[in-house]
Amino acid sequence: MSIADENMETKLNIRPLHPALGAEVTGLDLAVPLAPGTFQALHQAWMDYLVLVFPEQALSDGQQIAFARQFGELEVHHQDIIKSRAAPEIFRVANVDDDGNLMAAGDPSVAQISLAQRWHTDSSYRPIPSMGSILHGIEVTREGGETWFTNMYRVHDALPAALRQQIEGRKARHDFAHLATLAPIKPLTEAERQAMPAVWQPMVRQHPVTGRKSLFISPIYNDAIEGMADEAGLALVAQLAELAGRDEFIYRHRWSPDDVVMWDNRCTMHQVTPYDLAQRRVMHRATIIGDGPVVAA
Ligand code: OGA
Ligand code: MN
Repeated sequence: MSIADENMETKLNIRPLHPALGAEVTGLDLAVPLAPGTFQALHQAWMDYLVLVFPEQALSDGQQIAFARQFGELEVHHQDIIKSRAAPEIFRVANVDDDGNLMAAGDPSVAQISLAQRWHTDSSYRPIPSMGSILHGIEVTREGGETWFTNMYRVHDALPAALRQQIEGRKARHDFAHLATLAPIKPLTEAERQAMPAVWQPMVRQHPVTGRKSLFISPIYNDAIEGMADEAGLALVAQLAELAGRDEFIYRHRWSPDDVVMWDNRCTMHQVTPYDLAQRRVMHRATIIGDGPVVAA
């Protein structure tokens, strides 16, 4: 698996996983820098399938970070909890602390991570939301803990006319602090609050690479819709999320240890299914900074 790819181009094996999105990619060692032609082919596959699954990639954090950096600079999470002490670019999606101890189910970090059980797209609350996320399953659960992905291009294209009219030209507010209204997370410090003021984003966006339109909501962060009373706005987001959750739009990923899954935050949402919090679950995420402000479509 350690044949250097730097000077050789690797033929990718791509196997679609679902009609809407998702493909498995084999024949590649993510621990090794990609040759330019391999990078191009991989990037094209990412644009075509939105979610790529790479089985059997036992990456160190450093190798994961180096792989991710080929796509762009990485985010460093703005909270003191959640990110790794050893590598600040690693966001810890885990019910195990940085010293390896299982956390109590009531721990504020666990409460925060568990909010990923609702549909969202990562870092949508940033002025420039994330381009994509790369998640390495280190310790995975036997049951539950599946990650589901939905294709927001298709959701956009399937919007009934009445719903489409309600969102076209409209903005939704995304506020990190909204999480605190949904679960007993660790109270935000003043610095954390000031680091992430709420942002308004178009509800229909244009993808900077493919040019395609997608629905842009992120229900765990959305707390208001332009021109609507708060309650009506939240009801609209819930209605849109329900549409996004239809079987036809979703790939469900069942994790095996050392799967690496990479998704495009600009045209997908994801959520994790509930799992037994007495079982250890440790996933390390590298999050690619977005390539520019969201473009309304
Ligand atoms: C994430 C996330 C879901 C999961 O890493 O951004 O939402 O499977 N993870 O834990
Ligand atoms: Mn997430």
